[in-house]
Amino acid sequence: MKALVQAYHALSDIYLKGSWISEAIKKQGAPLLESKGSYRLVYGVVEHEYLYEYRISRLVEKSPKAAVKILLKMGMYLLDESTLPDYAAVNEIADTAKKVGKGGVCAFVNAVLRRYAKEGKTLYPTEPDLLLSVRANLPLWLVKRYQKELGADAEKRLTAPRSVKTHVRPAFSFGKKALYKALSERNATFEKTEYGAYIGEVGAISDLLKEGKATVMSWGSADICSALDNPENLLDLCAAPGGKSVYIAEKFGIKVIACDLYEHRATLIRAYAERMKVKDIQVCVQDGRVLREEWMDAFSAVLLDAPCSGLGSLASNPDIVLNRTEKAFADIINTQKQLLSVACRYVKKGGVLLYATCSDLPSENADLVREFLQAHAEFTLEKQRYTDPEAGGGESYYYARMRKQ
Ligand SMILES: C[S@@+](CC[C@H](N)C(=O)[O-])C[C@H]1O[C@@H](n2cnc3c(N)ncnc32)[C@H](O)[C@@H]1O
Repeated sequence: MKALVQAYHALSDIYLKGSWISEAIKKQGAPLLESKGSYRLVYGVVEHEYLYEYRISRLVEKSPKAAVKILLKMGMYLLDESTLPDYAAVNEIADTAKKVGKGGVCAFVNAVLRRYAKEGKTLYPTEPDLLLSVRANLPLWLVKRYQKELGADAEKRLTAPRSVKTHVRPAFSFGKKALYKALSERNATFEKTEYGAYIGEVGAISDLLKEGKATVMSWGSADICSALDNPENLLDLCAAPGGKSVYIAEKFGIKVIACDLYEHRATLIRAYAERMKVKDIQVCVQDGRVLREEWMDAFSAVLLDAPCSGLGSLASNPDIVLNRTEKAFADIINTQKQLLSVACRYVKKGGVLLYATCSDLPSENADLVREFLQAHAEFTLEKQRYTDPEAGGGESYYYARMRKQ
């Protein structure tokens, strides 16, 4: 029961305060963190956000308050996914309501959930765009955005099954061979990749992670770094938490300047570099939109891993679309353009500008790069690629490597 109460509080943080799902769960601590069922429930509610919203709108005449909706969504998830008999699932939610000080809505929640158990589980929208919003778990405005950008491919892209996998890579000083040996010796389930391995349970190598011999790094992130070919130095303009800066500094043995807009995020880079025992990283707090004269034409490689919608990682981060607006999305694209127009000034002749995002929308990627290249004849596009989600552990990334003439 305590875990369910904590699940309610975590969901309140997510829905009412805009917290990220992983942070909201971590904040609650045990038993939620260790209870697989309740932990899954928090994710499950968020993963069914648009379906449950639709069903609530069909079952209840007047939209309930946000806190009541959270209890209803928890109940719907238990009724859909748990092995509890329906009456027990409804009782669990009623008890949770009392424990979180919402005893006054118990009768209402009970009645709606009982109705849901009888007639709500098969309710789906008939209107095609709304149905796609429910199936893809995206707000309607984003569904329309995908349709506008991808045309007939949108539906396939949005409904393709994605199995989320955790990818780890070894420190370069440790190496893939040693990583595979350690995984085999521990009878861990793993699948080799060109950068490391997909791993069933990261707990199997918690000591290696702690000692900086291995690290969790998505396949797509490692793939972006691999687009660089022996740079002499690197400026990473949007670097926190430091995954790519550290990888590149280690792989090529070069000096990296790693910047981020926020001090608290710059701290993450320092901590990460220390854990991975990588010394050649100079961390600085810097707004990438503001030009620094002393960096002009100074780098053989500039990485702009831009702030983005994150939509390519929706399968592992279902919360990224909650509380997001169309206006915020447009603002992100504007920021990406501003950052790119500054980043390109720091590349020296013959050097490389590597633009990357974890989004699969052309407006943040190929379209934006095309527009940039039209305005900057001194750059040529050498390579661009969207990660195939199959190879990328359910995630899709984008990069474009451009060379300055
Ligand atoms: C996609 S993340 C970078 C991930 C990082 N490259 C890595 O691999 O670990 C984007 C980062 O850009 C930072 N950021 C956002 N706006 C920025 C700006 N105007 N200037 C510099 N950094 C910015 C964010 O704080 C965030 O840490």
